[in-house]
Amino acid sequence: MKFPGIVFGSLLLYTASAWNTDVHQQIGFMAEEFLTPYTIGVIRNILEPWYQGSIGRAAAWADRYAHTAEGRFSYQWHWIDSEDTPPTSCNVEYKRDCSKGGCVVSAIANQTSILHECIQQVKDGSLTGGSNTTCSQALKWVTHFLGDITQPLHSSGIAAGGNMFNVTFAGHATELHAVWDGFIPHADAGVLRFSNSSLSPFMAALVDRIRANAFAEPTTSWLQCINPATPVTCAMAWAAESNAWTCSYVYKQVYNNTDLLDSGYAQGAFPIIELQISKAALRLATWLNTLALGHYERDGQDFEDPIGNAQQVLVS
Ligand SMILES: *[C@@H]1O[C@H](CO)[C@@H](O)[C@H](O)[C@H]1NC(C)=O
Ligand SMILES: *[C@@H]1O[C@H](CO)[C@@H](O)[C@H](O)[C@H]1NC(C)=O
Ligand SMILES: *[C@@H]1O[C@H](CO)[C@@H](O)[C@H](O)[C@H]1NC(C)=O
Ligand SMILES: *[C@@H]1O[C@H](CO)[C@@H](O)[C@H](O)[C@H]1NC(C)=O
Ligand SMILES: *[C@@H]1O[C@H](CO)[C@@H](O)[C@H](O)[C@H]1NC(C)=O
Repeated sequence: MKFPGIVFGSLLLYTASAWNTDVHQQIGFMAEEFLTPYTIGVIRNILEPWYQGSIGRAAAWADRYAHTAEGRFSYQWHWIDSEDTPPTSCNVEYKRDCSKGGCVVSAIANQTSILHECIQQVKDGSLTGGSNTTCSQALKWVTHFLGDITQPLHSSGIAAGGNMFNVTFAGHATELHAVWDGFIPHADAGVLRFSNSSLSPFMAALVDRIRANAFAEPTTSWLQCINPATPVTCAMAWAAESNAWTCSYVYKQVYNNTDLLDSGYAQGAFPIIELQISKAALRLATWLNTLALGHYERDGQDFEDPIGNAQQVLVS
């Protein structure tokens, strides 16, 4: 397996959904470390004032919105349900797996395209102070989905992204999706009770490692596809990388009848989540910096009407 991988989700099954919130926010804060001053200025005009120009603060909005009646349509945008059979066979295909109504790949493409228009509005002075909701939402979705797509179980269809796959972690009866969303990052950060403050040092250390290029795969390889003008191609590359982890690690280990914290499963997953979280942050910053610079000639790849018919199993 070339890429280690993982991160958090939005299929909120656990009661401690603050984990999700905090991990997403922390990815946003990590990304802020790599934004150019120009990009930061653009963002400040797009987000509503209460976010204080911070994509970290805005990064978890998409999960809350998906669980409102108004935002229900966007719930399925948080993942792509691959029709594969890990750990024996892994693959994700856009036309097959991106459901009618959208998936994380089409949503990244659509919202990136909208965000590009919004940045033009900032540049011509017609958008200031977060006054266009379509634009603020586009930025918040892009921020959130570039995090979600690095979580292996957001690019995996079986057992509803692991939500229906019961496991035990640290004595808790839970399921595999929640384990990758929260329990593993929690255990890796070495905090008994996961919170934003306890997670910050862990994430700051990841930022240092990104700067030092101190991962098994060089950061340049994370950015092989990072052109916002080819969003379906890039998002599919990221989804395929996440999906591959479900064969090489997530569903490969023997974890039934064991506690995943004691069995070595969690420890084996730590490098994967560290890498995937770090990729999410650096890609997000690079994506936004590139958009803000304005080099953008959109390819013709269609994302308007995903024709896949993967089974959607809504679990919340
Ligand atoms: C908000 O931005 C969107 C996306 O560019 C655009 O279609 C819409 O017209 C804008 N709304 C206003 C009121 O300017
Ligand atoms: C998984 O756990 C849930 C909640 O405890 C339970 O309702 C469900 O029947 C379990 N599923 C399986 C396949 O054991
Ligand atoms: C989380 O922690 C970061 C870094 O310490 C801080 O800047 C941010 O405001 C915190 N977020 C929340 C929602 O408390
Ligand atoms: C549980 O693990 C055992 C031992 O590896 C394996 O033979 C069995 O198929 C597993 N059962 C399930 C339901 O995954
Ligand atoms: C694209 O985004 C707009 C604005 O959020 C939304 O109304 C539309 O349904 C989206 N289209 C697709 C194909 O995702």
